[in-house]
Amino acid sequence: MISKMTKKSHSNSLWGGRFSEPVDDFVQRFTASVSFDKRLYHHDIEGSIAHAHMLAEVGVLTPEEKNTICSGLQAIREEIEAGKFDWHVSLEDVHMNIESRLISLIGEVGKKLHTARSRNDQIATDIRLYLRDELDTLLQLKTDVLNALADLAEKHTDTIMPGYTHLQAAQPVTFGHHMMAWFEMLLRDRNRLLDCRARLNVMPLGSAALAGTTFPIDRKITARLLSFDGISENSLDAVSDRDFAIEFCAVASITISHMSRWAEELVLWSSTQFGFIDLPDRFCTGSSIMPQKKNPDVPELIRGKAGRITGNLVSMLTLMKSQPLAYNKDNQEDKEPLFDSIDTMKDVLCAMASMLPHVTPNKDKMYAAAQQGFGTATDLADYLVRKGLPFRDAHSIVGQAVACAIHENKALDQLTLAELQKFSAKIHQDVFDVLSLEGSVSARNHFGATAPEQVQLAITRGRERLQK
Ligand code: ARG
Repeated sequence: MISKMTKKSHSNSLWGGRFSEPVDDFVQRFTASVSFDKRLYHHDIEGSIAHAHMLAEVGVLTPEEKNTICSGLQAIREEIEAGKFDWHVSLEDVHMNIESRLISLIGEVGKKLHTARSRNDQIATDIRLYLRDELDTLLQLKTDVLNALADLAEKHTDTIMPGYTHLQAAQPVTFGHHMMAWFEMLLRDRNRLLDCRARLNVMPLGSAALAGTTFPIDRKITARLLSFDGISENSLDAVSDRDFAIEFCAVASITISHMSRWAEELVLWSSTQFGFIDLPDRFCTGSSIMPQKKNPDVPELIRGKAGRITGNLVSMLTLMKSQPLAYNKDNQEDKEPLFDSIDTMKDVLCAMASMLPHVTPNKDKMYAAAQQGFGTATDLADYLVRKGLPFRDAHSIVGQAVACAIHENKALDQLTLAELQKFSAKIHQDVFDVLSLEGSVSARNHFGATAPEQVQLAITRGRERLQK
């Protein structure tokens, strides 16, 4: 390792002044971030243009200098977008690659751009600008998934399926109600993202390296140009704070834990054993050995992506833990986990948004499954309560009826009235209305419950809440 570390590179022209020897090749590679932070180029240039405008407003740059710098930055943006920009590891990061190119493009005046600024407030600003745009994309994707869920729920307000607790059939529910449970999870996640966006939208630029700058900057100008809602209060905090990135990774972790729960249900439901849904062929893959296989790879991968997104949150928390104020090079390690969580989240939401409209529930299978497992036993107990029995007694009586039905290998509603009356004289012909699956779901007719009428109301309210 040591021998590999002895080769020397040319020292960096943007900071090499006090160095007596060029940086070691290994150190150059080890400390460089350009391979991954170049994706910030657009926001880096946006921040630089706003900074140059502000410097001109307060008289640090002349209007001509500002114009030359801004046109140079625009030209660089075009070079990058046309794939004609040469990125150099020797220039360490996105900031110095762009600044160096600016100087080669427009000459001496390019060297003035970095007045009253440091890469420390520059990177803190770039990540916020970048993440803010990505949050807007993610919010749109979440809205697409939420709409897909509401549409699917609306088609199935009265489609009956077994509801589960402990993965044991518990009580019948409607498929629409189940879809709206997922809707609620994702709506909370979407609102968490909005909270995260509000806290993120505060501008660190102007904090310079850590203590502020000796130039008469006007931070309100840059904040307005960059559409920030506020300006950071403390320069030490501003250059070292990565809470906003941690917060996003936390929101992403909660979201993926929800998506991985749904994905697990899709995997279970599409199995032969359940047979509740069909996933379209284009979201599945086959097996190279077993010709009959159709595997739910897309939901499985969504489930699996929870690992890396949760891992990224742990990386970010561990990265920030114990760092003394203010900026430390450790912070460069924030980007890869953050970018990975953003990219993965986008893929997962795209997959769900495109898959959900094509999920077709197999109504007959779900209905048949709901008929097994005595899902209306609670309805029978409630019936006895309405006839005057205390709930505990009713529970015990129904338990005996279930034991008898198991023994007879029948469903509860297949027992005759006479058989049922052996357990309580309060049972009459009208009991069969409450023992039916339709009767069971439509009887749960209050705010938040599974009756088709309530599910329709919940969908209408859900669509309205999505507009807020
Ligand atoms: N590449 C650095 C990062 O990502 C930019 C800031 C570097 N600042 C410094 N003083 N070395 O954090």
